[in-house]
Amino acid sequence: MRSIPSCTISRKEDRAINHNSCKNNVIVELKDIEKKYDREVLRVDRLKLNKGLIYGIIGPSGAGKSTLLHIVNLLTAPSKGAYYFQGQPVPGNPQEQINIRRKMSLVFQKTILFKESVWNNVAYGLRARGYKRSEIKERVDHLLTQVGLNELASRRADTLSGGEAQRVAIARAVAFDPELLLLDEPTANLDPINIELIENMIKSLNRDKSITVVIVTHNVFQARRIADQVIFIDKGEIVEMGPTEKIFNNPDHEKTCLYVEGKVIS
Ligand SMILES: Nc1ncnc2c1ncn2[C@@H]1O[C@H](COP(=O)(O)OP(=O)(O)O)[C@@H](O)[C@H]1O
Ligand SMILES: [Mg+2]
Repeated sequence: MRSIPSCTISRKEDRAINHNSCKNNVIVELKDIEKKYDREVLRVDRLKLNKGLIYGIIGPSGAGKSTLLHIVNLLTAPSKGAYYFQGQPVPGNPQEQINIRRKMSLVFQKTILFKESVWNNVAYGLRARGYKRSEIKERVDHLLTQVGLNELASRRADTLSGGEAQRVAIARAVAFDPELLLLDEPTANLDPINIELIENMIKSLNRDKSITVVIVTHNVFQARRIADQVIFIDKGEIVEMGPTEKIFNNPDHEKTCLYVEGKVIS
């Protein structure tokens, strides 16, 4: 059984955080990023995401989790700050961002699939990127087998259950081998069986295809189950980031401790 955190904060000298600073291992780096609407909703002094890991972003509703994910996905432009993708500065011009955007995929809580077969949905990104027919077939068949969706291949996507549809959405998102898979509350409102299937799918895609994953979840247990590193955001700021077991068992900040224990934070 897992231990329950005691909300005792470790002394500074005990805080062994392993920050891998090897530059070519970093996929995403944000520096002094801010996002303002009518007020400031996100401020990230520094964030580095390493290749090949699963990151879980947790925090209360309205904390800025989706905003951060959308900035990483180039869907939302930050009001200020610098973004480096695989060590290269991301240009401000959306036209020039296309090559970077093509290296990542974002899956929302509720994904809209095309009213076509599951197979065609998964093939969509490959067709759009001009893959050859034979390669599309090979990739889609292989992926559907890998994620256990074979039996659904010829089903029309609009006849699927919510959980099945979300599994297809993730398969579609990874068919072209993106470097980075971004998931915004992908299992919210799903039943436990589909949650488990999707978590296993994410873990195996990360393991077998070395895809770096960033998953936003309001479910701290989910972050604990699948993330290597956890980022805790509150009121638009990263309160704490670190290895999952540390965040849950020995966090540096009391707020983190309270949040992972399911207590109200002010
Ligand atoms: N397009 C927008 N215009 C104005 N405020 C926004 C917009 N998008 C998000 N916000 C605000 O930014 C804050 C963070 O939102 P969000 O990133 O969606 O939080 P989370 O995903 O953690 O629930 C919230 O207060 C939200 O109302
Ligand atoms: Mg959100």
